[in-house]
This record gives sequence, C-alpha cells and structure tokens, in this order.
Amino acid sequence: MNLKQLGMAALFAGIATSSGAQTAMSVAKDANCGCCASWATIMEREGYAVAIENTSYEALEALKAARGVPAAMAGCHTATVEGYTIEGHVPAADIARLLAERPDAIGLAVPGMPMGSPGMGPETKRDAYDVILIKADGKTEVFASYPAR
Ligand code: CU
Ligand code: CU
Repeated sequence: MNLKQLGMAALFAGIATSSGAQTAMSVAKDANCGCCASWATIMEREGYAVAIENTSYEALEALKAARGVPAAMAGCHTATVEGYTIEGHVPAADIARLLAERPDAIGLAVPGMPMGSPGMGPETKRDAYDVILIKADGKTEVFASYPAR
C-alpha cells in the first residue's frame, strides 16, 4: 500500500465510524441483576449496539464455562463483542484497546463486582481492581489496573 492508498484507507475508516456503523455487542445477564443493566447502558452510551439476553443464573454459568472463562475470573454478566468475551464490569476504554490490539485471547474480565467499576455504584469512590486478559490458552495476565480513590 502506498501513502495515497493509506490515506484513502484512513478516510474510509473515518467514514465508516462517522456514518454510525456501530459495533454489535451482546450481553447475557441474569434477568434480576440491575448492575448488569447499568453496565449495558454505559456500553450503549459508548456507541455499541447492545442486545441484551436475559437468562438464568445456571445458563450464565454454562456460558462462562463454554467460553473458557476460568471460575476465578467470573463476574456477573457475560458479553460478546467481535468474537471476544467480556466478563463482568469491564471499562469501555479497555474494550476499545482490546479491539484495537486484537490479542490472541478469549477476552477481558473484571472478576467479582468491584465497587466503582462501570455500572457498580458511585463514580467518585472506587475499590482498586484489575482488568484481566484471558489468553487463548486460558492463562491470565493483568491488562489494566485501576487504583482506589
Ligand atoms: Cu455486576
Ligand atoms: Cu449484574
């Protein structure tokens, strides 16, 4: 690709974004869980076309296992975006980085439900938490860290 073609590619990429072509995201959640709904609303605000699937706790457990989410990494809802699994209250910025870097991985997880993560309570107060990258082989590493505040 020469420089002119690169410029054209960048231009078309820009058009694709500005024309409102949204990235699809599905969110499987327990029907009775409110924090998952809050997280999904945040993702909609971030520009994802979110489809919510209300399901049972048992079905969610089975979905997590089928996706290869280690039990220790489990959060509440399990989302899917561009083939990646997003487990729990993962911030939008980390999902954007995942989709830009496209590592060979299952996806991202925020285990448990840390206070102050997106969808989990006040934005002014936060427990420290990590966003974990679940690699294709099931190994995990820290993808991003959010300090307490
Ligand atoms: Cu939650
Ligand atoms: Cu929830």
